[in-house]
Formats: sequence, structure tokens, C-alpha cells
Amino acid sequence: MKKHVVLLAAVCLAVSAVAAFAATDALVGACIYKFDDTFMTGVRNAMRAEMDRQGGELEIVDSQNRQPMQNDQVDAYISKGANALIVNPVDRTAAEPLMNKAKAEGLPIVFVNREPYAEVMNAYDKIWYVGAKAEESGTQSGQIIVDYFKAHPEADKNKDGKIQYIMLRGEQGHQDAVLRTEYSTKAMKDGGFEIVELGSDTANWDKVQATDKMKGFISSSGIDTIEAVLANNDDMALGAIEALKAEGYNLGDPAKYIPVVGVDATAPALEAMSKGEMLGTVLNDADNQGIAAVKVAVVAADGNAVTDESIGYTITDGKYIWIPYRPVTVENYKEFMK
Ligand code: GAL
Ligand code: CA
Repeated sequence: MKKHVVLLAAVCLAVSAVAAFAATDALVGACIYKFDDTFMTGVRNAMRAEMDRQGGELEIVDSQNRQPMQNDQVDAYISKGANALIVNPVDRTAAEPLMNKAKAEGLPIVFVNREPYAEVMNAYDKIWYVGAKAEESGTQSGQIIVDYFKAHPEADKNKDGKIQYIMLRGEQGHQDAVLRTEYSTKAMKDGGFEIVELGSDTANWDKVQATDKMKGFISSSGIDTIEAVLANNDDMALGAIEALKAEGYNLGDPAKYIPVVGVDATAPALEAMSKGEMLGTVLNDADNQGIAAVKVAVVAADGNAVTDESIGYTITDGKYIWIPYRPVTVENYKEFMK
């Protein structure tokens, strides 16, 4: 009898251990606004790695920066029986039809990186958003410039007590472009500086476009008048640096240096920091955004409750997972190199 009890207990333990480690068999369909985006490639790789750990199936397609194409891709996932969707919308203002498609099927849908309007987020109970608070990254990048100007009074080249800067903005209408621009300039003012915008334009997150725009600003303002460059992401910061290097700037001569800050902390940006070409950036945590998106999708696809405990991230207002940004400077950039 005693033997049987022990045996039964052992069997129960074994069964529950298997249950605890049971891999999901969920099929998750993901759409990325475009594959040719440095930061989103990091998110994509993190999603893939997390699903490998979870054991389910993850399909990821390239929406090639076309919203109608992405809508079709979502339809295709639904017809092939996906259990959850992860969508990085091409146009965040066009997320409503995607939400409606998921809602009609009762399918969980997780938006990433491009935040749908609140009314869309509030119109369905199986919708989540994984992203980062753009205000934070704006404030942190402006603060890096403030700290630099405080430590290097000579950075105020014309000695007028003001920071003459260039702003390179991300895609029009993207919450990260709008808020990073607003909060980085606010941080410089809050840091006690008067600021003068010599030029500001969108370069659509793109390095080549940023080089062109920066060359234009250099010819219109004159390189001697530019005291700082703020870019809404690292690819554009690196594009601006190309234009500066073409003028012999940021190549090691301290008399020919303009501080440039970006956002993302991509590998090429950290590399540029290690060479002294770029002042700083802000970690936009691709790994945790990718992992969190897959965790939410899998937990929901398996029919379990999405909670702080079940996904391992804090959920705000029942549907937002905010991954914190972190300032990256010469003091700590090595921590972020992989
Ligand atoms: C931002 C990121 C940019 C770009 C954009 C795409 O968060 O900083 O580099 O990837 O998302 O939506
Ligand atoms: Ca000045």
C-alpha cells in the first residue's frame, strides 16, 4: 500500500514536471513593417530566439513598408489557423482594421513598436502593446548633450551661451519621432540652456537620407556654426556622422568635433562610440521588446491569462508592456556591446 502511494506521488510529480516544461504548440504569425530596419531587425531576432526557447512555431513576414500588403498578410495568417498575431504596423494610425480582423476571430493580437491609438487599444480585450516610452528616450538623449556642454564649455563655439543644434527626425507621425524631438529639446532647456535650432528635417530613420540632409544643413548653416546634432535614432546619427567626417570632423581632432547623439544603441552606434565619433545614445531594448511580445502572444494563444507573473514583465492598464530605455555614454557603452 505504502509503496503504491509513493509510486503514485512519483507519477504525479513526473506528470506535473512535464506539464511545467511542456512546450507550446502555438502558431504565432508576425508582420514587421519592413525587414530593412536596423532596430526592428534586433527585435525580430529576439522574437525568433524566444520562440526557439518556447518550442512553438513563429512565422515572420516582411510588410515592405506597405500597409495594404500587411493587411493581406494578417488575413493569410488567420486563414492558415494562427493562434496569435504579432504586428509591427506600417502605419500606426491604420491599426484599427487589423484589430478588427483579430477581434472577429477572437484571436490575441500584440502590437509592437508602433503604438495604435488608445481607442483601438480599448476596443478589444485580447490586444496588447509592447514598446517603450518615447518621452524617456528624448529626455535621456537631451540630457547627454546637457552633460557634455556642462563638462565642455568650449562646445559653445560662438560663446553665446546657447546650443546651436540640428535635429534629424524619424518618420512623420511616428510617436517616437514626435516625442523624442519634443523631449530632447525640452531636456536641453530644462538643463539650463537656451537652444537655437539651425535645422530640423525628417530622414525617415534612414542613414543615407540623414547623410544627405546633414550635408544640406552643413552647406546652409556652415559647419562652424553647428554645435550639436540630435537624431531620433542611431542610423540617422550615423548618417550625420558620415557627413561630418566628409568635412574632416569627428575623426579625432578635438578642434573638429561636433557631439552627436542617437537612440537605439545598435551595434554600429556602439562601435562609433568606441572610436570617439559619436557622443552617446539611448538603449532601445530590442531584446526585451522581442521577448515580451512572444511571451504575451504564446501565453494568450495557449488560452492562459496574460499577467505580470505569466509573462515576466509588468503590465500597465491591462494591456501595455513598457520596456525601459537607458542612457548609453562613454562610461557604460561597453556593457551593451554583444
Ligand atoms: C524606433 C527606432 C527606430 C526605428 C523605428 C521603427 O523605435 O528607434 O530606429 O526602428 O522604431 O518603427
Ligand atoms: Ca552657442
